[in-house]
Parts: sequence; C-alpha cells; structure tokens
Amino acid sequence: MSQTLKAVRGTRDLLPPETALWNRIEAIARDVFARYNFGEIRTPVFEDTALFARSVGEDTDIVSKEMYTWEDRARAQSEKTQSLTLRPENTAGVVRAYIEHGLGESGQLQKLYYIGPQFRRERPQKGRYRQFAQIGAEVIGPPSTGSESPLRDAEILEMLATLLDELGITGWTLELNSVGSAADRARYNDALRAALVAVVGQMCADCQRRAVTNPLRVLDCKVPADQPIIATLPVIADSLDEASQAHFAAVTAALDAAGVPYTLNHRLVRGLDYYTRTTFEFTHGGLGAQNALLGGGRYDGLSEAMGGPKAPGIGFAMGEDRLVLTLQALETAQPQTVADAFVAPLGESLNPAALALARELRHAGLRVELGEGSFRLKRSFEAADKIARRIVILGEDELQSGILTVKTFSTGIQTKVPRAELAAFLAGPAKG
Ligand code: HAM
Repeated sequence: MSQTLKAVRGTRDLLPPETALWNRIEAIARDVFARYNFGEIRTPVFEDTALFARSVGEDTDIVSKEMYTWEDRARAQSEKTQSLTLRPENTAGVVRAYIEHGLGESGQLQKLYYIGPQFRRERPQKGRYRQFAQIGAEVIGPPSTGSESPLRDAEILEMLATLLDELGITGWTLELNSVGSAADRARYNDALRAALVAVVGQMCADCQRRAVTNPLRVLDCKVPADQPIIATLPVIADSLDEASQAHFAAVTAALDAAGVPYTLNHRLVRGLDYYTRTTFEFTHGGLGAQNALLGGGRYDGLSEAMGGPKAPGIGFAMGEDRLVLTLQALETAQPQTVADAFVAPLGESLNPAALALARELRHAGLRVELGEGSFRLKRSFEAADKIARRIVILGEDELQSGILTVKTFSTGIQTKVPRAELAAFLAGPAKG
C-alpha cells in the first residue's frame, strides 16, 4: 500500500470553524486600515533571492538559514537560470514594488497594507510555522511627504493599539526601542565589537561569526549559556546621536499624548538588518515562547540600499496565526458553528421545494443547512440537532398550506409559522 500523503512539516490546513475566525480578523484589519487611509498591495509570493539578501541581510537567521530558495531553470534561450526565494517577509517586496512603479513620484505618502502567506524554514512549534500568514502595513515616501516624522511612527503604533483592541486582544505589551541611524548603528557595532573581543571566545559558533561580520546580530542569539554574556554588552541607547534621541523622544511624547502605553526595551534590535531608529514588538503572555504578536520598525535607508530613491519608511507585520492563537486562548472568539435552521424535506419529491425555501431563508441573511428528502424524519432530526438551532419541516401539507412546522432544540417547543414570517422567527432568540 502506498504511504498516505500528509501536509508538509511546519504547514497546516486551516479548517472550519477556525477559518471563520481568520476571516473575521482579516475583515477587522481591512476595516481599520481603511479608516487610517491605507490601500492594499499584493506582491508575488516568490522573488529574486538577492532582494532578501540585500534588505533583510546576509547575516540574519532568516537569510542565512531559513529561506526556501531554489535555482529556477531557464525554459527558453531568452531566459536565464535564476535563484528564487519564497518570501520570508513582505517589506522587501513592498519596497521593491515602490521603487519599480515609481510610487514616490506621486509626491504622496504611500500607505500600503498586505495580508498573505510567508515562508521560513524554522523549527516548527506552537505559534511558529514554516508557512504562516502576516497582516502588515508600510508607510513610505520621499522626505517631502513627512515620511521621516516621528508622528508617522506614533500613528502606526496608535493604529496597532486600536486594531488589537478591536480584535478583542487584551493584555498586550508594546515594547519599544530605537536602533538609531545608520551612523549610530555603525558606532554601536564598533562598541559591540570592542566589548566582544574579551568574551566572544566563550560564546556559540554563530556569535563568533557574527562578532566579526555583524556584531549587532549577536543580540539575536537564543543560546541560554550566552545570555549572561549578552547582558553585559553595551546598549544601543548609549550610541544614539542627538537627532536620533530627539526623534525617539518625539515618538514617545506622541504616544503619551494619545494614551498608548509602552515599555522601553533597549535590547530590542529585531532580527532583520534594515531597521533604523524606532523598533517595536507587541507581545502577549498567552502565547508562550513565541510571544511576539507582531513586530516592526523604521527603515529609512532601505529604498536606497535597494537602488531606489531616498524614501524613509516605517511598517509592521502581525503574525496572523498568533492572533488566532491568542484569541482562542482568550476565549472571546466564538465563531458561529451552529446554523440558524436545518430545512428537512419530507420525501425526495420535496427536495426542489426545500432548495427554494433554503434559498429564501439564506437570502434573508440566515445560516441554513439543507437536509435530504430521502432521510427518514428521525435521521433528519439527529443531523439537525448536531448543527442547527432549529429544524424546519417541509412536507406536502406545509408546502400547500404555507404554514411550516419549526422545532427549537433548546426548548423542545414545536411551532407553526406562516412562511412569510419564517425568516423573522428563525432570526429570533432560540429560547422562544
Ligand atoms: P518579523 O518580526 O520577522 O518582522 O515578523 C513579524 C511577525 O510575524 C512576528 O512578530 C510573528 O508574529 C510573525 N512570525 C514570524 N515568523 C513566524 C513563524 N515562523 N510562524 C508564525 N508567525 C511568525 C517582519 O517580518 C517585518 N517584515 C515586519 C516589518 C514590516 N517591519 C517593517 N515593516
């Protein structure tokens, strides 16, 4: 016998009723984005590998270990074999599109959101998958649009607080930091390199490599034995110049004014190389080890690093899988699993009339399950009791008289309802 095929490790099927929760989250996100005047962008799921190497950074875990990359064979002489990668994140693709379509030339701030799958070859565990979904947004534009203003940072963070509230996610923490300008980071990297000389010999192999290539990435290390050493390293706050300090102070002042609570975390450098100045994560205690609901920050030099015009930007991405887990843990998410009514035709000859009745009720906005006339009445009742609040019996008499028999399962009460009033009756509380 051939082996049963299964979903690939780290990937999952999403099934009803959980998919209803995914749709609800996406609908709320789209609604909030619209109110903050964002438009949707959809970029390809795979891109040129160089895009991620140049933006996210060669030394990051994402690029060095986690990407799904392959050599895509040429199909014609006019094509070249190309290294392609399933997107591990969406910011690089959005900035590429911004440059490719000259979006900055409009002179308007570009406010773009996306919802879609991302791919990282990570060790799967609860809240961490190899295919996962992000809901994210980017605000980017030439400096003349005010894209560098700390108000943009604060507005994004305030929007996230609103979005999480509207999703019903309570108890989040906003962790905030500044990683400074490119020059500040260069200074910080020097300070780290100097501090690491004495201790790096006791650290893991990754840290030893990073101490040379990109010392900032040492702070991403998860090896427990390295943590006490990392705790002694300099913090980036001490390397910020006056302009970066003032920018950060303006972000926190605007958050204070808007009443958005935050905690400063000077170790928050984020696992991607493109960040400058403000970096943040929203965490939630209900998630366990993978506690980041979302992460983001400012990336003022990214467009130029990718060969584009000067276009400061800031954005974030929420892990949709983690939003779902959090809502399930909070038990506020009760997707509707029970239909309003089960229409049971009495005999196969009534199947067409039952379809017509179900159509009528569905058009009235009800959630309706359609039975099968060849079932005995007892079987229809058993099926209906599992999935609907009420059963509507449609026999020859009911069809002729236009008076339907409805049984409400929670009370056991059977009621005669004229067809014209049926939809309103079914929409009412199941107690009646
Ligand atoms: P990131 O921190 O790599 O940032 O990912 C953002 C969020 O995606 C995480 O906080 C987490 O909720 C979710 N996530 C990441 N990896 C996984 C995984 N393997 N399984 C499930 N969820 C995951 C970025 O991706 C940046 N592009 C965010 C950004 C946008 N920065 C500026 N603009």
